[in-house]
Amino acid sequence: MQTTHSIIRFGPLSEFRELLSPERVVFITSSALREKASEKLPMERESGRWIEVPDGESCKTFLVLESVYHALLNFDAGPDTVLVAIGGGSVSDLAGFAAHTWKRGIGLILVPTTLLAMIDASIGGKNAIDIGYAKNAVGSFHLPTSIICDVGWLPSLPEKDLASGMAEAIKHAVLDSEEHVQFFEQLAETRIPLAELGGKTFEDLIRRSQAVKLRYVNADLYDSHERHALNYGHTFGHAIELLTGLPHGFAVAAGMGAANTLAVSRGTLDPVTQGRIGSLLRHFGLPAGIQEAFGMAGRTMDRRALLELIRADKKRRGNYMDFVLPHGIGDVRIEAIPVDELAEVLQT
Ligand SMILES: NC(=O)c1ccc[n+]([C@@H]2O[C@H](COP(=O)([O-])OP(=O)(O)OC[C@H]3O[C@@H](n4cnc5c(N)ncnc54)[C@H](O)[C@@H]3O)[C@@H](O)[C@H]2O)c1
Repeated sequence: MQTTHSIIRFGPLSEFRELLSPERVVFITSSALREKASEKLPMERESGRWIEVPDGESCKTFLVLESVYHALLNFDAGPDTVLVAIGGGSVSDLAGFAAHTWKRGIGLILVPTTLLAMIDASIGGKNAIDIGYAKNAVGSFHLPTSIICDVGWLPSLPEKDLASGMAEAIKHAVLDSEEHVQFFEQLAETRIPLAELGGKTFEDLIRRSQAVKLRYVNADLYDSHERHALNYGHTFGHAIELLTGLPHGFAVAAGMGAANTLAVSRGTLDPVTQGRIGSLLRHFGLPAGIQEAFGMAGRTMDRRALLELIRADKKRRGNYMDFVLPHGIGDVRIEAIPVDELAEVLQT
């Protein structure tokens, strides 16, 4: 599969050695994944140039970015260097920004190791680091030349991280088509636990999901309009994520549930479809509404704080918010919604 510039490859990392020539490549991975990455690339374990960064979201800081620049300097990394990022969305976001800015841009290869990174974070060229609580405040667009998807990473992924990725996969299915949603409904009917789905099923699920994201990215690489549809669930989701501390996908799932509630109250979505999406999310252990998310996090819902965060959203224009509103499966639209109407959803 090919995006505007990136080639997506499937298979074990060791099969792609020709892309990873030692004199040009610098590997970057998190402390938690270093051992596993070395096992998959035994020859590069000693000979390769490795940068190790803190685990998870804590690597997306200016301090860590500066340490990456110093490591690149020590490795004498020049314009022909390729940075190979092995990790989840946190590592790829940091590495993408470092690759974009080092020597005004060097090559980038992404090796996503989480479900969310395979279907979402590695696709489309966006990268970012955080400034305090301002998530993804500094970032750019820098497409990787290759994305290497090895589903062999997934069995070690904790259940909550698998579920978090499923939220974005279900989001893509709702954006896409009835057939795609039925694929997940049939998967749910099998009652096979997420961790036991198996490599073939995951590969199918990932390819389908990537195809949806790619469609939006290729139509609107720089996120000026069409790509905004991928924000389905994210307006409420970002606020929920900040206040509950739940993983990103859990907050997006709750945000999709809230967007669906708003759509039903406006008469754009029928309650049967709302029920189907809610059942799917819950089947995979995800919250399908704001109250459910706060319940899962063991926190009391703070409406005022939620509303403040929603008002601070960059998509707000005066009293209106550019909001992704579902009209049905395969039919979501970006509409200007009064902020007061969003506040009403918080009462439900
Ligand atoms: N750039 C984009 O388009 C985009 C899109 C979506 C999300 N994101 C970003 O992605 C980040 C979230 O990414 P994520 O969900 O992949 O989480 P993550 O990268 O923070 O990783 C979550 C945890 O999983 C661990 N982990 C990773 N792979 C593993 C494996 N194979 N086995 C065991 N543990 C493993 C990590 O060490 C970490 O502790 C956020 O910072 C978000 O902003 C970016």
